[in-house]
This record gives sequence, structure tokens and C-alpha cells, in this order.
Amino acid sequence: MPLPQLNNPQNIFLESSNSTSDKLRIIHDSLMKNFNDLDRIAVAMYDEKSDMLKTFINSTRQGYPIEKYEFKLSDCYTLNRLAKEGVYRVIDDIPDSIIASSPHSDWLLKQGYYSSFTVPIYDNGHFLGMIFFDSVKSAAFSSKIQRDLLMYSSLINMIISEEISAVRSIVTSAKVAREISNLRDFETGAHLERMARFARIIALELAESHNLSDEFIEHLYLFAPLHDIGKIGIPDKILLKPGKFDEAEITIMKGHVTKGVELVEKILGGFALTHLPDSIILKNIIGCHHEFLDGSGYPHGLRGDEIPIEARIVTASDIYDALTSVRPYKKAWSPDSAIDELTSMVRQGKLDPDCIQAIRKRLPDLVDITSKFAEIK
Ligand SMILES: [Fe+2]
Ligand SMILES: [Fe+2]
Repeated sequence: MPLPQLNNPQNIFLESSNSTSDKLRIIHDSLMKNFNDLDRIAVAMYDEKSDMLKTFINSTRQGYPIEKYEFKLSDCYTLNRLAKEGVYRVIDDIPDSIIASSPHSDWLLKQGYYSSFTVPIYDNGHFLGMIFFDSVKSAAFSSKIQRDLLMYSSLINMIISEEISAVRSIVTSAKVAREISNLRDFETGAHLERMARFARIIALELAESHNLSDEFIEHLYLFAPLHDIGKIGIPDKILLKPGKFDEAEITIMKGHVTKGVELVEKILGGFALTHLPDSIILKNIIGCHHEFLDGSGYPHGLRGDEIPIEARIVTASDIYDALTSVRPYKKAWSPDSAIDELTSMVRQGKLDPDCIQAIRKRLPDLVDITSKFAEIK
């Protein structure tokens, strides 16, 4: 196979408004011109903390696009070996060579693909994830095609590493800013751990109806803890005041939203990341997490769909966690009373009914997270 030519490879990097999913589709389109049997390219990302390999982005022409799927890498002997040894794998006849013994092989058999080429990817020696090339044709991956696809794997590897380090830079600098301010006394790390996980669960529940991709959900999860980053700019005497706020203090407190947006714009600018795809998710979370559907929120009094879904999800997670946590002025509410309160806020037209329905449906998982990430007393 002659090496497929991308129209202009630099465009993939320069066209920064493209999401990582878009970039993968562009690569797939180019590859298809010379290798018509390439029915799917998918990238699964590895989370070292949990040992989970999670679906991340895919470009699928044939078969079922698999999303919102994860499994323990150590439960899958072959993939674990590929990751450890840095070798790729070719399967010429999937139904013939795979026994449905692990969740992953079970899944692979259901896809209707006959051959596959799997390449592990790394960033500075750290295992990042896997690229899966699949075809509905058997023995589609000749050694020549493998060689070409390996070159494209390096390109995909670069795109993913670049995007990961960009997202990490933002999250890390926001964390540092939080650490050096008094914000850590005001909002606990445990609250942030919990609400980010709640947000991820709600997003997974809403994924089908709202067409949310794995990439979107991953970024929502990473960015959700930064929602109140603007509180860094609020004077300590107000932020740490034990009693109730007066009118003037409430106005200053509300300013944390605008301050947060300004701060994140500075961080993005500092890293020359102002056009980072998905940085809009971060800005929307920070800028709209106090808006209510009926227009009674702040700072802009946005209504209904004017409030981006990522912000509606974060608002629901944040309020659920506030209700079920102890505060100096109140006890922790039970999960059921928290649901009652959220439901009444839905009835008042403030909160997104789908988000609250998702919390209700997944309540046992939320309760589990609350106990796993309890406050350290
Ligand atoms: Fe806030
Ligand atoms: Fe919060």
C-alpha cells in the first residue's frame, strides 16, 4: 500500500479548533483512500490509578461504535502483555483466535470484525493506552499495511500526548493556584473529588440523550473540580467569615464566577492554549455553574438551553454534595432528603430534570462515592 498522504498533515495540529475525535476522523479519512478495509480506529486510554482501560475516541465506519466502556487491564492477559512489552498484535481471524474469556474478548467478538491490529502508545515511557485498528475483512492487515499503520500510530500518539499535556497544564496550574490560596480551607479536596465523580456519572447517564462523547465526559470530569477557582480572588476576610454575609459581601462572593473565567483565560493564555479544543467546556463550567434554568441565577441570568449542559451537570453535582455534606451551619442531609430538595428545585424550574433523574437513578453509586471520599476530620 503506498503511504497515504494527508492533504496537509500540519493542518491536524494547526487546526486547533478540531477536537481530538475530529483529528482521528481526519486521519481515518486519509487512510481510507488507500486502505479501504480499515473500518475502525479507536483509542482507549489507560488510567494508572484504577488500572482501567477506558474508551476515549473512535472513528467507526463498520460495526458498533463502542463508547462509555472500561475494563481492568490486568483482567486482559494479552493487552496487559502488549502494554508491558511495548509490542503490537495482529489478529487475522478474530472469531477463530479469540475465546470469550475476558470482558474485552467478549466485547471484541460481538463487534463483527474479523481482523485487528493493536498498538500500545506511550508518553515519556508511561503507558498511555491502545490504538485499535479493525476490519470486517479477515487478514486485512498485511505486514506492509502494519508498517504504514505504525507510522500513523506515531502521529495519533503525538496528537494524544499533546492534548494530554495541554489539559494537564491547565488542571495543574489551577490546582497550584488553589493550594497557595486559602481556598483549600474553605472548600475541601474531598468535595472536589466527590463532585467530579458525581458529574461523570450524570454525564454517562445523559450521554445517549445529549450525545455526549467519551472525550467530552473525560474533560468534564477533569475540569469539574475547577468550578470555584475564582474564589481565589475573594478576600480572606469574606471567604473565611464564619457568620452570614451581608448584601455587599454577597455581591463580592458572587464575583467569584467572573474572576474564575478571567483566571482561566490567563492560564490558557499563559500556555498559549486559548484555542485548546474543549477549553470551552472549562469556561462554561466556571462561568455558568450558578445559573438556573428559570433565569434566577448569576452572573448572567441565562435561561434553559442557554446554560451549557456541562454547567447544568456541575450545578447538580455541586448542590447534591453541598446538601449531603456537613457545613458549619448544618448537618449532612440523607441522600433521600437531598433528592427531595433537588426535586423541589426542579419543580421551581431551577435545575435540569434530566440531571436530577440521573442522580436518582444512580443514587447507590453516589452514596458509595460519598463514603469513599469522606471528609478527613
Ligand atoms: Fe461557585
Ligand atoms: Fe463546589
